[in-house]
Amino acid sequence: MSILSILIEPDKRLRQLSDKVSLKAVTDKDFGKFLDNMVETMIAKDGVGLAAPQVGENIRVITVNTKQGPLAMLNPEITKKSLTKDWDEEGCLSVPNTWGQVKRHKTVHCQFFDRAGQKQKIEASGLLARVIQHEIDHLDGILFIDKAKDIAKNYAM
Ligand code: NI
Repeated sequence: MSILSILIEPDKRLRQLSDKVSLKAVTDKDFGKFLDNMVETMIAKDGVGLAAPQVGENIRVITVNTKQGPLAMLNPEITKKSLTKDWDEEGCLSVPNTWGQVKRHKTVHCQFFDRAGQKQKIEASGLLARVIQHEIDHLDGILFIDKAKDIAKNYAM
């Protein structure tokens, strides 16, 4: 496994619309390795989630940290979202040293394919719901700074 390098805003590749991944890819050994590398990169960088475009692949793949461990989600789609929204602080590995308050749906239902190509559904709330919304935004070329208020930057001394 290896740590992938993260693209940093204003890299144009972060602003592209990512393509759906073909489910044939799940049988591809290199694709499996890519998912392992995404998970390893997310953990190594202390991220709670990572989207493929952040490592230069414009495909609809995200990894998220769940209570059960890291999860790779292929072609994730939000199928239902709560009317209630919450503000909370977000940051992003592609926008270093920057934080802001972002309003997100409190609960989301998400449909996706797992790394074995099986269709799955999860209902997420709290931090996981926030992370899923943030990562799916990446697949549409959207960064949290596009939506955030009270953006604060921390410059290293
Ligand atoms: Ni991000």
